[in-house]
Amino acid sequence: GIMREISGIAVMEQALSRKLGIRQAIIVSGNSDESPWVKQELGRATAMCMKARLKGKNIIAVTGGSTMAAVAEMLTPDLAERDWLFVPARGGIGEDVKNQANTICAKMADHTDSRHRVLYVPDQVSKEMYESIIKEPNIKEVITQIKSASMVLHGIGDAITMAERRKTSEEDLEKIKHAKAVGESFGYYFNEGGEVVHKVQTIGLQLDDLSHIEHVIAVAGGSSKAKAITAYMKRAPSSTILVTDEGAAKQLLKG
Ligand code: G3H
Repeated sequence: GIMREISGIAVMEQALSRKLGIRQAIIVSGNSDESPWVKQELGRATAMCMKARLKGKNIIAVTGGSTMAAVAEMLTPDLAERDWLFVPARGGIGEDVKNQANTICAKMADHTDSRHRVLYVPDQVSKEMYESIIKEPNIKEVITQIKSASMVLHGIGDAITMAERRKTSEEDLEKIKHAKAVGESFGYYFNEGGEVVHKVQTIGLQLDDLSHIEHVIAVAGGSSKAKAITAYMKRAPSSTILVTDEGAAKQLLKG
């Protein structure tokens, strides 16, 4: 019966958060590798989690990716009474427009009648260009907002999938493969031990900033992401909440 299924999931959630050493795991039914609608369920569960944890005025930093795009789709105006500001967590890391944090923040703000800021930083710039961009008052202001976020929402990807999807240079792609990267988050690539083996140079949130942020929500599902999730969680702050699906959770609990 349905109660049995629900309690089965609750047991898995407990076991998973313990295994990964994080605050909480939330598991939705299905496997997003096989059924695209499961991503929407991840989005719905994330929206509920945001609603429960955020009261009043908040800055929410968001990364890119198709999972974050699904979260944006599931945000609803009943969250609108809250004073939220969405900011992209980091500058450009090579994603297509639909998967960019800027686009996703705009959609999240639109769906909740709240505000957003953009961070326009070209993907591949010279060191000189980079140094001058980060001195721009407008950019500086957004970076200050990012660093004072009370919540971070982020995806986790398979390293090679992400490197190939983004405009990664041949040289960096080789580096990522050679270092046996398995996971990616925020433009950081991790090996199985959770060590950073490559990092996309861009401004905004850095991995070390995460420990200062009250609510960190990682959203990633699909059994193909199990290795990536395990690797990243070795490095994640223990306050992390993981929103995932059964497909990934079963793999994660096996390993
Ligand atoms: O950083 C992780 C990726 O943005 C995840 O992308 O949600 O499209 O799998 P995805």
